[in-house]
Amino acid sequence: MLVNKRTRVVTGLAVAVTIASITAGWAKPDSEFVNLKVLPKDVSSKILQHIMIDEFEDGLGVNCAFCHAEQKGSHKLDYVSDAKPEKQIARSMMRMTLKLNARYFQVHRPGLGDPGLVVTCTTCHNGKPMPGE
Ligand code: HEC
Ligand code: HEC
Repeated sequence: MLVNKRTRVVTGLAVAVTIASITAGWAKPDSEFVNLKVLPKDVSSKILQHIMIDEFEDGLGVNCAFCHAEQKGSHKLDYVSDAKPEKQIARSMMRMTLKLNARYFQVHRPGLGDPGLVVTCTTCHNGKPMPGE
């Protein structure tokens, strides 16, 4: 009897775990990133890294902490947080950059990090956080 009961409990647990993982899958359909408002929600981590490192860090001559806030009580960065105004400014700069490419340079469906962009962060920033300085 005891063995049967235990088997039932274990089976019940396995079902619960399966349901939990399916639900977690629904919450994040195609991406590990949770707070993207300009980039495609299903952007690959390879492309996101390319944008953050080559376009943003190198383009503005800054590091990740220029836009990303620290976690409370730690020096680790919280990439999801929108606490730093620089991150919000960067989003509006991203939208502007896409618009410039589409509207004034006839780039079809421009995407940040695409090699076909005419205007990038570097065009204006040239390795500095404030252009012209
Ligand atoms: C110039 C500002 C800027 C810099 C520098 C920057 N980021 Fe970001 N990062 C952003 C913005 C803006 C977003 C949100 C993009 C959006 O809303 O589509 C973002 C999003 C992210 C995300 C996705 C978080 C999520 O789950 O929503 C990660 C991870 C990330 N950045 C990592 C980095 C790393 C690592 C570095 C340094 C190598 C870096 N970033 C440098 C502005 C920046
Ligand atoms: C057409 C030119 C242009 C392009 C392209 C451009 N920027 Fe900017 N950016 C500026 C100017 C000009 C300023 C200064 C605005 C001011 O003085 O308030 C600025 C300011 C910023 C700031 C605030 C810096 C600070 O020290 O407060 C951030 C962050 C930023 N840009 C990110 C980006 C990112 C990321 C990209 C690419 C997605 C980008 N910019 C593309 C012209 C540009």
